Amino acid sequence: MKRALVLLLACFACAACRRGMVDQQHLKPLAEENFFRDGAGSRIPPAHTVARGQLRADEQFFTGKIGNNLAATMPMPVTREMLERGRERFEIYCAVCHGRTGEGNGMIVQRGFPQPPSFHEQRLREAPVGHFFDVMTNGYGVMYPYASRVSPEDRWAIVAYIRALQLSENATPADADADGAKKLETAQR
Ligand code: HEC
Repeated sequence: MKRALVLLLACFACAACRRGMVDQQHLKPLAEENFFRDGAGSRIPPAHTVARGQLRADEQFFTGKIGNNLAATMPMPVTREMLERGRERFEIYCAVCHGRTGEGNGMIVQRGFPQPPSFHEQRLREAPVGHFFDVMTNGYGVMYPYASRVSPEDRWAIVAYIRALQLSENATPADADADGAKKLETAQR
């Protein structure tokens, strides 16, 4: 009984603190405030400051480019985990238009959206990885950008998965390892 009472009191105490935090004096973002000489409540960060986590020093990772050229290599090693993440993200964000195999026949296209090119055409098989990253980051023709919805890391995972799709569409049984070759053989019988 005593314990329950203490607990109840503690609850009241916490509830009381909370209101005070909510009601304290504060400014709405970008509201007028005469405390500062320019009359603006929001402060402009001093020149050349960078918010924590926003340095973006790794040009290849954030833009898919090295200097003015599209990067021909991935900025990180490709792992199985990354490919699986890439497949998941691709099927969420891209497959609706590009189709699950990247042929360009997704459901939205079947319902009338302009048809994207197949990822298996020669030009896109030869395109550098940076091109795919750049298309997602900045958009391309009628395709809008995905930078606000897909993080740079996930965009690279999608690039890796697109490369895997391209490989798989043009693979021969000789490309499989011993285990895979055996599976193919039984599947063909
Ligand atoms: C709403 C439909 C739609 C979605 C979703 C979409 N795309 Fe596209 N994409 C297009 C269309 C349409 C084009 C062709 C644009 C053009 O040529 O004007 C295109 C073109 C492309 C191209 C080819 C660019 C070239 O060189 O021709 C790539 C690569 C691409 N998209 C990647 C992606 C990736 C990766 C995603 C997922 C993050 C994605 N797209 C999501 C519709 C879409």
